Amino acid sequence: MNKKIFSGVQPTGNLHLGNYLGAIKNFVQLQNDKRNQCIYCVVDLHSITVKQDANILKKNIRETTAAFIASGLDPEKSIIFNQSAVTAHAEGAWILGCVSRMGWLSRMTQFKEKAGKDKEKASVGLYVYPVLMAADILLYDATHVPVGEDQKQHLELTKDIAQKFNNDFSVPNFFPSPEPIFELTAPRIMSLRDGAKKMSKSDSSDMSRINIQDDSDLIALKIRKSKTDQEPIPEELIDLEKRPEANNLINIYASMSHSKVEDVLRNFSGKPFSYFKPLLADILISELEPISKKISELLKEPDVIDKILNEGALSAKKISGPIIKSTYDILGLNTILE
Ligand code: TYM
Repeated sequence: MNKKIFSGVQPTGNLHLGNYLGAIKNFVQLQNDKRNQCIYCVVDLHSITVKQDANILKKNIRETTAAFIASGLDPEKSIIFNQSAVTAHAEGAWILGCVSRMGWLSRMTQFKEKAGKDKEKASVGLYVYPVLMAADILLYDATHVPVGEDQKQHLELTKDIAQKFNNDFSVPNFFPSPEPIFELTAPRIMSLRDGAKKMSKSDSSDMSRINIQDDSDLIALKIRKSKTDQEPIPEELIDLEKRPEANNLINIYASMSHSKVEDVLRNFSGKPFSYFKPLLADILISELEPISKKISELLKEPDVIDKILNEGALSAKKISGPIIKSTYDILGLNTILE
């Protein structure tokens, strides 16, 4: 079946191994199946739900685009653009916001985590963030959305919003129900310092994550210092269950080497982590180092990056423009398509 793929990454600087393994690597794999139509978006409107410095945001939009390309996304094969360049996203978010229910949004765990204790001080944008995400997906009739497991609840909400719109306005199947695609081995990469927390840009400790642009020495150091326990690598999967840090490192290795966790355990069972960690560092460095170099090269030519984004935005408008127009028609809002 042909899949219509849409996904997005926030340009908040420092993409990390979680973004790479949980999302971007999957983007590339899906792109390389010619039957798929792939659209990948630098979701800059999402990033302004928390205050950003304008110059840094501009730099981060280019940097995230460069990371997409350096990781293997090809503007000839995929549409690559930034969200704010296509106004349909903001329009769609308003319309879908009128369909979404407060109760649905109040249940979103990511909002609760990000807003912290003082919810009253969080931006309204942060609260309605998942509605903008639903607009991103639905405006392209996306059928599949490659994301990390942390976005599962937002995807379920997107389905609810699509279904409510279709029901409320008696337009069955107008918006398709999109399915998430999670990476098989590492849908949730955890912090290197605490196996109960996900690897995240917002963790105050840089030692908790591998950034795509960390140099080899730093990657080796972070893996060497990563938290584990005294036990050697077990033989059976079940023995990893109560060892979150060990489990995380084994999962990262399996995902990077395209192997099954069972096979990694078979190869390393009985070995201490002091033996395993340098091998894990090597595999990370050999994949991330060329990507990091390519990002630095691409960033020397910002015009080239901007051209890719501009062309991507034009292609994106061709798809989302008619869909937002139909949405207006369905609602009785008559518009003239530019
Ligand atoms: P963002 O920018 O936080 O993260 C980008 C992608 O990386 C995945 N990810 C992880 N995967 C595994 N382990 C981790 N520790 C980890 N951390 C992050 C995220 O799941 C995501 O796939 N709301 C989204 C961006 C977005 C979007 C969309 C995604 C906006 N519109 C439409 C899909 C479709 C987000 O904040 O991702």
